[in-house]
Amino acid sequence: MRGFLLKNALIMGASSGIGYAMAERLARDPGIETLVLCSRRALSSPPLLSLQSQLAAAGRECLLLEVDITDEASLSALTEHLKKDLQVIDLIINTAGLLHSSEVAPEKALEQMCLASMQQVFAVNAFGPILLAQALMPWLKARRPVVFASLSARVGSIADNRLGGWYSYRASKAAQNQLLKTLAIELARRNPEAIVLALHPGTTDTDLSRPFQANVAQEKLFTPAFVAEHLLQQMMQATVEDTGSFIAWDGQRIAW
Ligand SMILES: NC(=O)c1ccc[n+]([C@@H]2O[C@H](COP(=O)([O-])OP(=O)(O)OC[C@H]3O[C@@H](n4cnc5c(N)ncnc54)[C@H](OP(=O)(O)O)[C@@H]3O)[C@@H](O)[C@H]2O)c1
Repeated sequence: MRGFLLKNALIMGASSGIGYAMAERLARDPGIETLVLCSRRALSSPPLLSLQSQLAAAGRECLLLEVDITDEASLSALTEHLKKDLQVIDLIINTAGLLHSSEVAPEKALEQMCLASMQQVFAVNAFGPILLAQALMPWLKARRPVVFASLSARVGSIADNRLGGWYSYRASKAAQNQLLKTLAIELARRNPEAIVLALHPGTTDTDLSRPFQANVAQEKLFTPAFVAEHLLQQMMQATVEDTGSFIAWDGQRIAW
């Protein structure tokens, strides 16, 4: 499945949904030596603990780290921890994202917008991915092949916005896209072998989409395993010419 040698991978947002499915898929790859799996609750996630035991039994390393991508101290702790353990990271995937929570709901009308929930959504979806890249800069700027892929969403495309609604989520993904494109340009100068991608998974059956699945046709609602397989293929096939692109699960380019 790969166009470059993949030994060490890090997934942010690995405790559920698409991130967990990617962790499971990578754990089945015999070439993987170290998996670093992060989220705010990684250490209390039974599926991640079980994956860690399976990998340990096979003599492979799986680090579970509790990290909040909206918290700079937490990201600095990640950097310091990894500096001790890992010289090389080949693949960095960010799947952390926020559409709804007990405090946040996607807005259908302007009257529903409020600063505090906009800030929360932007913190996770827009600022988090670029702060994560900053924390992992020692590995991104090393002059060797590395992929940094972060999950965006087609609704973040300004060109494709026909339905409106979901102001904060859409805008936060559009902001993420711009930040990733800017990172791709900087990294092309500092490490010409780095590839930065914004990826759209398609509507996937996870906690994030569950309250909004009613109008989704069954064949258009993907399983996390299906999406993980396809997105990992996109990451493995990408070349430096693709850096700074917004790509869907099936390889289609999405207009900004
Ligand atoms: N599902 C879809 O239909 C769909 C469609 C388009 C785009 N996407 C995008 O795809 C990505 C993955 O979505 P998903 O459906 O897999 O979501 P999910 O099931 O809600 O999983 C999100 C993961 O991110 C972690 N996370 C949340 N906030 C975090 C933070 N501040 N710091 C670190 N980790 C955090 C969560 O774990 P903890 O709670 O342990 O931190 C969880 O593991 C998101 O960016 C989403 O916007 C999804």
